[in-house]
Amino acid sequence: MIFSSRFVKSITDLHEEHGVHGNSSEHSLKRTLGAPSLVALGIGAIIGAGLFSITGGAAAHNAGPAVTISFVIAAIACGFAGLCYAEFASMIPVAGSAYTYSYATMGEFMAWIIGWDLVLEYAVGAATVAISWSRYLVKFFAYYDIHLPAALTLSPFNSVTLIDGTTASGMINLPAVFIVVMMSLLLIKGTKESATVNGVIVALKIAVVLIFIALGWAYINTANYTPYIPENTGNFGDFGWSGIVRAAGIIFFAYIGFDAVSTAAQEAKNPKRDMPIGILVSLAICTVLYILFAHVMTGVANYTSFQGADGIAPVAVAIDHMGNMGADGKIIPAFPWLNKAIIIAILAGYSSVIMVMLMGQTRVFFSMSKDGLLPKIFSDVHPKFQTPWKSNILFMVFVSLFAAFVPADVVGEMTSIGTLLAFVLVCFGIIVLRKAQPDLPRAFKTPFVPVVPILGILACLAMMASLPGDTWLRLIIWLALGFVIYFGYGMKHSVLRKKIGAARQ
Ligand code: ALA
Repeated sequence: MIFSSRFVKSITDLHEEHGVHGNSSEHSLKRTLGAPSLVALGIGAIIGAGLFSITGGAAAHNAGPAVTISFVIAAIACGFAGLCYAEFASMIPVAGSAYTYSYATMGEFMAWIIGWDLVLEYAVGAATVAISWSRYLVKFFAYYDIHLPAALTLSPFNSVTLIDGTTASGMINLPAVFIVVMMSLLLIKGTKESATVNGVIVALKIAVVLIFIALGWAYINTANYTPYIPENTGNFGDFGWSGIVRAAGIIFFAYIGFDAVSTAAQEAKNPKRDMPIGILVSLAICTVLYILFAHVMTGVANYTSFQGADGIAPVAVAIDHMGNMGADGKIIPAFPWLNKAIIIAILAGYSSVIMVMLMGQTRVFFSMSKDGLLPKIFSDVHPKFQTPWKSNILFMVFVSLFAAFVPADVVGEMTSIGTLLAFVLVCFGIIVLRKAQPDLPRAFKTPFVPVVPILGILACLAMMASLPGDTWLRLIIWLALGFVIYFGYGMKHSVLRKKIGAARQ
């Protein structure tokens, strides 16, 4: 039977396979990361396009200034899921993350679903951030009067209105492809984002967020907070409370990444203690920063200013509103330098998110390929660079196609729904494992089980439910494609099934 518990990997086997007890082999990853580096890794992966690009759109189209409430709702849901991730990551500290946790709890079929689903989080997520990177690059060049043509910087589904009032349509988003290719090549070469480099980028990102909050605070116009919850237009998700929940589902993207800490479990010095710290502390720090940032953003500029922000960077809109009114009725920006500085930090910051996402993706497929569920090509390691280079190249092409031809909101919502599904399954896995193996040593225990995982499941399902029907359709199509591959390939090549089959003969 597909769902049979016979195809569940034992946790003892997992520990042995991955050298969790320190019996490292030449193929195991080096344990170099302490708690501060893991927190930094989390923040490095978390703060990105969700905050700097997507928040403006969610305020403009769904929640208005109440987007701050959306941030609180999404943070609570992530907190529940984060607690469940922390228990798993401290108990099964291996690189496959949610995929491996499911293999150990719900069996191979569910593990496949989650592994396949994680492509939406990591690969499609990388495409989303690459598209935002491209927007900021266009904006950056514009400061120097260099105007990159819309045809080469937007997907065919996007267009911009030019200064002369005419409309220019996109064809291909080349800067987005460029950054994906650069990050993939870097990963292939094995120039690993060292803890130090990541630390520098994280410090830069936090500095930028704090500067924005501190400088913008003085220019908050409280009139922009009225109405705080704009009236619903009659359509579900367009303002009102349904808009707040839908915005939570959209800006949930901003929190994605804390779970990527768990893919570094095999590089943690003391994973049992430090995995929960890395996951939960990075999430807590980002939550506080996000709420303050959203409060300032919708305070300095009216939420309607972010409308039609496709192709325009919303943070730049907010910064342009930080200033006093000139005689001509136009705002004289008080910090013109801030836009350039912030864009450089954003471009660097997004690059690290893209890199961690691409890295997480290849690691999950690496684990799936080792388990026989995917072809060997995904676990072929380069003889010199010791990286899964073929997998990197395949994902470079796949992610580039998305980045080049799909609009940001489509890939962003696909990433959110895919990640939410992964979180639901991780929360469910905690309940299953507590029942199936209550006595296993757990370095970190999710409090109030099953209440916390159940609340996590409900909160994530609510955010999933608030996402548009099209996004659901795309998720269903993606999963259906996954089933075809599993039944056509994975099930037949599964190492675990072969092992169990051999043992029974
Ligand atoms: N949380 C990451 C971002 O917002 C994925 O870019």
